Amino acid sequence: MSASLQPNFKVRNLTLRSNAEEASVYAAHKIADLIKQKQKEGKAAVLGLATGNTPIRIYQELIRLHKSESLSFQNVITFNLDEYYPISTTNNQSYTYFMNQYLFDQIDIDPQNIHIPHTECSIAMVSHYCGDYEAKIAKYGGLDLQLLGIGRNGHIGFNEPGSTLESTTRLVNLHPITRDDAIENFGTLENVPEQAISIGIQTIMKAKMILLMALGARKSEIISKALNSQISSEIPATFLRTLPQVEYILDREAAALI
Ligand code: PGA
Repeated sequence: MSASLQPNFKVRNLTLRSNAEEASVYAAHKIADLIKQKQKEGKAAVLGLATGNTPIRIYQELIRLHKSESLSFQNVITFNLDEYYPISTTNNQSYTYFMNQYLFDQIDIDPQNIHIPHTECSIAMVSHYCGDYEAKIAKYGGLDLQLLGIGRNGHIGFNEPGSTLESTTRLVNLHPITRDDAIENFGTLENVPEQAISIGIQTIMKAKMILLMALGARKSEIISKALNSQISSEIPATFLRTLPQVEYILDREAAALI
């Protein structure tokens, strides 16, 4: 561990809630508060969004706030963390499909403000495309908030074990555990893509606020490692411990081993 990678336990910000419902509502309200704060300032809120099981209940609460409490998303710019490569945006396993279904179709966000890696580009164009995605995030002044789940191998986004601190948006090979966990969605291992485009560790770490959410007993082992084991690229989530702006939001089951 280098000197610059010392964990800062004093600023380690752990929020525990008794169940997934309460943890998700808590996270949704943090996001809503940021959106409203930016509205007051006449500014855009630049959100880094995640897919998977973890954020679904958060998105439901944001939709409720939109429909019942007039929360507007007109000032919101979004960048999704990742997308399988290659996959069509119309494929019901694509993250474009997921985001439309679970959030965007039910709020008043301007479609032009939505950014999700589109992975129908040829392999020759991927690196250019990734550079462009990274440049767009920078053009908006970086991410105000990054929402993260955590994979059972410690990945954040699709930054799999071995991802470096310097990594930015790029094409990645999916780890066997990640592909295994995706079987529930794709039906068989053969159907699960082998690659993805993911924003990098460096991209994530530059976000002004980071919410890492872990729910359920399945995540208890890895979240314990993310919080307690040596900081290294073997468990990419450990890199976050070097940052003051990270909040870990856990339910009771996920927190069982910390
Ligand atoms: P999950 O995935 O929310 O479906 O558990 C999290 C992740 O792999 O980052």
